[in-house]
Formats: sequence, C-alpha cells, structure tokens
Amino acid sequence: MKEFQFIHINEAANEFHLSNQAVSYIFRVDPTTHQLEQLYFGKKIQHRKSFFYLVERENRPANNLYEGNHTSSLEHIKQEYPSFGTTDFRYPAHQIKWPSGDQVTHLEYASYTISKGKPTLEGLPATYVDSKEEAETLTIILKDIYSELEVQLNYTIFSTFSAITRSACFINRGTTTIQLENAMSASVDFPDADFELLHLNGAWARETHVERKALHTGLQSVSSARGASSHAHNPFMALVRPETTELNGEVYGFSLIYSGNFTAQVEVDTYHVTRAMLGINPFRFNWQLNEGDFFQTPEAVLVYSDAGLNGMSQTYHELYRTRLARGRWRDKERPILINNWEATYFDFNEEKILEIARNGAELGMELFVLDDGWFGKRDDDTSSLGDWVEDKTKLSNGIKGLSEKIHQLGLKFGLWFEPEMVSKNTPLHDEHSDWVIGVPGKNISHGRNQFVLDFSRPEVVDSIFQQMDAILHDAQVDYIKWDMNRYISEAYSDALPPEQQGEVYHRYILGVYELYERLITKYPDILFESCAGGGARNDPGMLYYAPQAWASDDTDAVERLKIQYGTSMVYPLSSIGSHVSAVPNHQVGRVTSMDIRSNVAYFGTFGYEMDITTLSDADKESIRHHIQFFKKHRALVQQGTFYRLESPFDGNTVAWMLVSKDQSEALVGYYQILATPNPAYERLKLTGLNPETMYIVEPINQSRYGDDLMAIGLLFADDVTNGIEPTWKFNRHGDFTSNMFYLKSNDSLEDKKWE
Ligand code: GLA
Repeated sequence: MKEFQFIHINEAANEFHLSNQAVSYIFRVDPTTHQLEQLYFGKKIQHRKSFFYLVERENRPANNLYEGNHTSSLEHIKQEYPSFGTTDFRYPAHQIKWPSGDQVTHLEYASYTISKGKPTLEGLPATYVDSKEEAETLTIILKDIYSELEVQLNYTIFSTFSAITRSACFINRGTTTIQLENAMSASVDFPDADFELLHLNGAWARETHVERKALHTGLQSVSSARGASSHAHNPFMALVRPETTELNGEVYGFSLIYSGNFTAQVEVDTYHVTRAMLGINPFRFNWQLNEGDFFQTPEAVLVYSDAGLNGMSQTYHELYRTRLARGRWRDKERPILINNWEATYFDFNEEKILEIARNGAELGMELFVLDDGWFGKRDDDTSSLGDWVEDKTKLSNGIKGLSEKIHQLGLKFGLWFEPEMVSKNTPLHDEHSDWVIGVPGKNISHGRNQFVLDFSRPEVVDSIFQQMDAILHDAQVDYIKWDMNRYISEAYSDALPPEQQGEVYHRYILGVYELYERLITKYPDILFESCAGGGARNDPGMLYYAPQAWASDDTDAVERLKIQYGTSMVYPLSSIGSHVSAVPNHQVGRVTSMDIRSNVAYFGTFGYEMDITTLSDADKESIRHHIQFFKKHRALVQQGTFYRLESPFDGNTVAWMLVSKDQSEALVGYYQILATPNPAYERLKLTGLNPETMYIVEPINQSRYGDDLMAIGLLFADDVTNGIEPTWKFNRHGDFTSNMFYLKSNDSLEDKKWE
C-alpha cells in the first residue's frame, strides 16, 4: 500500500483515498467492470487498509455487460465518470460520436499517477498552489477498450481546504477523428437523495438570489446556453441536507471555474442514488478531436462542509481569494473608487470628469473610473464599440492627458472597455463584418444595439489587444472595468467548418481568457474588475484574471442585501463590487439613507457611483466619515471570515458579520427592511468569536464576552428603561434602517468599567 501525504492507495484492491483534516474522498476500481466506483465523499474519516465494506450490490433486474454474469450492470454501481450506451441509463459524464455514428464508449481503468502540487490547465483558469507542499494531484488514466482514446481524470486535494478539484482531459491517441459531444468536469454518485438543491438564480439587476428546494426523483438542473455564465444562473449548486442551516449541517458545493455555457445537474434515480454533475453545457457543444488532439475540461471545485452553508462559503472564499485570484492585487487592499456612470452616463467632458475626481479626492476616494462613452462617437449605446480611440470632443487632452490630471489629484485612474463587442458604423465593423458572430444570410440579433465579435478567432483577439494596448501603453491606467453587455445568439463562426460549429461557444471563452492573459501579463499592475451588465459573468473563471467583479447594476441598498447575500455563497467579499449610489435609486426608485447604502456597500470592494459634485455639505460629511470608517476596517472586510446570519430571503431583518482571523475584531451589519409598528424584541446572536475574549462593542460602548455575544446576542430594543415619555413622543426609525457594530477585543477590561 502506497502512502502519500494526502492520497492513500491500496494497490492490491485498487482503492484511492484522498483526505486531509476535513474531507475524505474514496473510490476504487470495480474488478468486474474495471469502472471507477465512488465509495464515499464527505467528512474526513480515518484511513484503513480497505474500504471494501462500502461496496453495495443488490440483486436487481438489469442489463449486464457480460454474458453469464448478472452483477455487471453499471446502472447499479455508484460511479465517478459514467458513460452512456451500455448498461447505465442515467445521464452520462461524457459522450463521444465515433466515425460510424455510434456512441458506445467503454472506458476502463488503466493506471494512475500522482504528483506533488497541482498542474496548470492550459488556456483555462484553475486553482493553483504557491508551493508544491500545498496539494497533491492524482491522475487516473482510463482507456476506451475499442479505440485509442484516453481520458485522464485529475483530482487535487489541498492540505488545508475542505475541497477536491476535478477535471477531465480527453486525448485522441488514434488516427481517426472523433466528435466529443459531452465532457463533464466532475460527476459524483451519492448513496442517498436526502438533499435540497440550492442555487443562485436571477436576472439583470436581481442577480444571485438564493433558491432552495427539495430534490425529487428525475432530473433537475441549472444551466446557461447564453454564451456567458449569465444573470439567470451561476455555475454553482449545493446539495444541502434538509436540516442544514447557515451555521450547522452538511453541504456539498459544486462550483465550476468557467465563464461560458455550463450545466449543474442532479439526477435522482429510482434507487435514490443522487448523481451530481457539473461541466460545460452539452447542449450545442461538440469538439472535434483529430489525431493527437486533446480536450481539457474546465475545473470543478467540490466543497464539503459540516458547518452549514457558512462553512461551505468560507472554504470557497479562502480558496478563491488566495488560490484562484492571482497577481499583484490578490492580497492588496483594494482602492475606494468613484465611477462616473450613474453621475453622467454618456454626457460628460474633461471638465466634468475632473470636477468629480477633485471632489472624490477631497472626500478620501482613491481611484477614479471613467466608464462608458469616452471613445469613438459614443453619445448613447448605439455606436462606437470596437473603436477604442478617445473622443477628443469630450476629452480634449485624450485619455493620456486625463489620466495624468487624475494622477495629479492623487487618485489612481481607471477605464471602462467592452472588448468583445462591436457597433455597426465603426471602422472595425466596416472592414471586418465577418468578425461578427452570426450565420451568413440569416438575421443577426442585436443586444443593446451591439454585436458580438468572434473571439473564437485568434486574429480578432489580437486586433482588440492591439487597440487596447495602444491606449494602455500611452496612458497611466491603473484599473480596467471589462464589461460584456449582451449574450451570444446565432452562435456561428465564419472561420470554422460545419462539423466544428459546436465549438464556437467554448472557443469564444478561450479567446476571452487569452485576451485577459495577454493584458495581465503585459500590465501586471492593472487591477481588473469584470462586469457583464452587472453580474452576468460573475463566475470563478473570471476571478482568475480579475480579482473583483461588479455584482450587479442594481445599487439599491435593499436589493443589494439579496444580491450580496447570494453572491457570498461562493465568492469572497474581496471580489464583490459594491458601491453607494444616488437616491432615488436609478434601478428601483427607492430612497434610502446614506447610512444604509454605505452599511451595505462596506461588505465588498466599496466605492461610489453618483454625482458627488452636487451633494449637500451634510452628505459630503457623511461620505467623508464613511470612507474613514471603511479604510479603518478594509483589511478585515477583505480578509476576514464572513458569516451570513439572517437571510433577506427569509424575513424582514438581515444580518451578516466578519471576524478577523485572530478573532480579535469583528464587524457586524444588521439591517431592517420595513419598520414594524409596536415591534417584538429583536436579538442577534453572533458567531465565530472567541468565547473567552472580552469585546468592546462600538458604537454602543458595551463590553461583552464572546460566549455571551454568541449565546445571547446583541439586543436591539430602544433603551427606554428610564423613560417617562408617552409612546407618541418616541422617535420612530422608519423603513430601511441599519446598524453597524465594531467589536474589538480588550481582555484587560473590567466588566464594571462599562456598566
Ligand atoms: C453595463 C455596466 C454598467 C455600466 C454600463 C455602461 O451596464 O454593468 O456598470 O458600465 O454598462 O454602458
């Protein structure tokens, strides 16, 4: 038996056990069928010589692989990477069309390799290690018994995360060309179906709403066929035990590091086995594998938690913040930005921009971002995408001149691009109308008056790189907001033959990744923020290139409670773009206080998106104060452990908190959406604190032990214990109220001092 640090292998029984302090993942090779058989995925269990006792077989009617053998049905084996076409009638993890037209593939286990660390996935975003000691990777090699097709299944286990990453690579070692029609990144068969399916559902301006429903027999899935991960669903799902809450119970998270069409699917079979799989959406996908070609799937990240949904989220947060996001900005505190979009829309000139920036600098902001409308002749959304040359009628000194002036104000300078798009009547469109995605001779649908450039073509990616490079080379740009404001329809590339049209969506995303890679390589100091009409591409794939993402175009504080609550299921706060905007709010018309707008936006990258030149002195004063507050707590926000406490999807109050790694400080946000007459007493139990530590709670100036705050909680009743005022004289707080509490440990404090 070979023992690696995190991977145990029983060579004789062909059993594989991946485990660290948190998680165990066990499978074996079934000696009869030579298939990988899933034995256990969940809380870490001790290793032992053999887990054979976990093999379950019942005498069931079935189609069997081998004559004379009645237990060789794949339908009754819990599998790791199932095929379709022989004896398993559930949905498969892969599908290949052979030259004859048949779709029977029979992969069998061949061998394995183990490596320290974690190899990169060529051309694709993936989690990584900083040193080889951080992880081990097991590669299982499967071979088709009828051909020279090889499939490699990669499993990585990290030393510290309760996570397993998986991906698959298809290699055509033969001479015939084959069509890959489905290639999931991961598939796991669970022995029971006592789960609820949780996922993030939405639309423009109401992204990442949490939905949770009991599993039922049959198929259920979320997916995208829009060319982007999309506003509608996120490439994520969780299988949650019915009794699981934010703080307790079992959860299995499935997250795909990918930005294009995906499927997250669960199938509960008639024996209540739950098959969960995740990968590129097989609908409208195919990939031609010629002799020697390989196809690498995106990476799936499987997280196990027995500490509720927060436990799952905290693993994703830490893993994605430190081992998916990359570059110089990964661990750096992110600048507080002011963006001119909602302040000016397309109507601005250099003078107006500088006035906003000047005000921003005075208030303590750190980065000015010039949004849409600076290039071509773009006075509305009907023109100029793809013409990345500054509009001198608006910006007389060009981007270079403006960037210098912004820098002189002591601010960093950021710029908006929408690199993947083109408008009609631009030089780019006139010269290269075949660079637009669409079927020649058929209508090409527009989205926001714009058309999608065919990023599956390297020359298109190259041409946009040249244009962006010309601006970035010249001007002092510290930040880029990379937008993408429509979905792909009529997916067809003029550059691909008919049998490869199913490759367009994936090749497109590879082109997007390629452009990102070229830009971050050449400009490593630039901070990228991804955006897609708000959160249409708020996915782990983007995080590899852009460490932050604009969560939604909806900046209303109340709506943002839901959006940010849902986003935090998977994504770290350091990645959640959240800004304070004007009232009445531009998306819903709601009027909320400056306080609640800040108290919500603090739980993300924090910034402003409003015309700060027209604010009252009182508003400016409160912004100044909020900025100071955020600067003081920024490290805690971006690196602390985040806990969701009360969900906006369940009631009228919402709460969440951050605790520093050493538990010496915490920040609590508590929000009440509507005022209630004659209210009941409200208390909020905190979590994650050190039970023995004495904390000072600001601004209420209480000293409380951690155990007391976690067992009893903060109390919210108005303090009228000494009052003799009649009820009609009480000050009512109104709708949309919030409280922020800052807790700092101070063990030297005596209880009495504060009483
Ligand atoms: C999208 C973005 C907005 C803004 C506009 C500009 O909608 O999400 O933040 O940049 O485009 O056109």
